Amino acid sequence: MKLTGPFTQLLTMDNLPERGKLSDDQLEIIPNAGILHQDGKIVAIGNFEQLCKENPDAKIEFFEGDFVCLPGMIDVHTHICWAGSRADDYAMRLEGKTYLEIAETGGGIWSTVMKTREYSFEELAALTVERAEKLYRQGITTIEVKSGYGLSIDDELKILKAIQLANKKTNAELIPTCLAAHMKPKDFPGNEREYLQYIIENLLPEVKKQNLAIRVDIFVEKGAFSITDAKYYLSEANKMGFDAVIHGDQFSSGSASLATGLQAVSIDHLEYADESEIEILAKSDVMPVILPGASIGLGERFAPARKMLDAGCPLVIASDWNPGSAPMGDLLTQAAILGAYEKLSMAETWAALTCRAARALRRNDIGVLKKGNKADFIVFKTGNFKEILYQQGQMKPAP
Ligand code: NIG
Ligand code: FE
Repeated sequence: MKLTGPFTQLLTMDNLPERGKLSDDQLEIIPNAGILHQDGKIVAIGNFEQLCKENPDAKIEFFEGDFVCLPGMIDVHTHICWAGSRADDYAMRLEGKTYLEIAETGGGIWSTVMKTREYSFEELAALTVERAEKLYRQGITTIEVKSGYGLSIDDELKILKAIQLANKKTNAELIPTCLAAHMKPKDFPGNEREYLQYIIENLLPEVKKQNLAIRVDIFVEKGAFSITDAKYYLSEANKMGFDAVIHGDQFSSGSASLATGLQAVSIDHLEYADESEIEILAKSDVMPVILPGASIGLGERFAPARKMLDAGCPLVIASDWNPGSAPMGDLLTQAAILGAYEKLSMAETWAALTCRAARALRRNDIGVLKKGNKADFIVFKTGNFKEILYQQGQMKPAP
């Protein structure tokens, strides 16, 4: 048994409403707190002195000075298994070309696919570990990772296996998602629907058999897949037992009813979600995941986070770390900047990175510090939790 503390403040992120707006006074903050844990699980949370007295045999991990403790952050949307760089795309965007124009003229997702295909499974695992460790040092202890830069049966399997290997080598926990439907590969001899049919028949059964992912994602957009094709693909994936997630409303609206109709786990991006779609999402169990890193990376508008919370949505914030639209890879900084522009309370931002994020991965053992949950917590060297978002991502967790 181990007792960690004392923490000047411990934010449990427990007992918060699952959806809608939050104010900071709803946060459960335990002063002078300790966490008693064993074999990676929380045994008790409470006053440090009292836990000390009640558990004289516990090994104490003592924190000298002021510290704030929070649940480890959860990044529910990344694409960190890739090779190469898209700095040239970025420079072209700065000169006025759009993301979709660059994709049409040889850059974009396809250029990363070509590069990633050249790399071995071990090399891709090493790159993924390096990026996962960078996120881990920022306090992100659970990271969703999508495939989607292989776009052939063998290359998608190679990427999913690289994510599986990386998961064994990093301190963070990695959750894989199959994004073979990122775009129709340029070397596929057929249309979008034929490509989707091809992966339904040849890739998804293998992913299932080899237990490489239980989540399937699709990019719904001009230049990627239509709503009709996505509906067909995700319902087939659902029948095979996969959970569905959607890249939707990044540049144009219309995917929300697709997500609710399919009872997708989440719809991610939503920069162009309009009022009627926010209403649809607010009445559903689909988790809206917004990606400020993609807005910052593309110089695009932020998703309407404030409106979503006011309408009663359970907002989640993720980094979307990828070489094209979101090259920064710093979730806390992005969430802090989004919060400043969208006027999110600190409670809303922290919930979007912890307890509400856990629900977007259908997990109930992380994102909240309470008895029985994973002993998955991070600490910052300050006595006031408000300092963390106030410093806009500059303050990182203590190692
Ligand atoms: O979430 N929009 C689609 N996929 C990624 C970008 C991938 C890329 O540009 O390489 C995203 O923004
Ligand atoms: Fe993405």
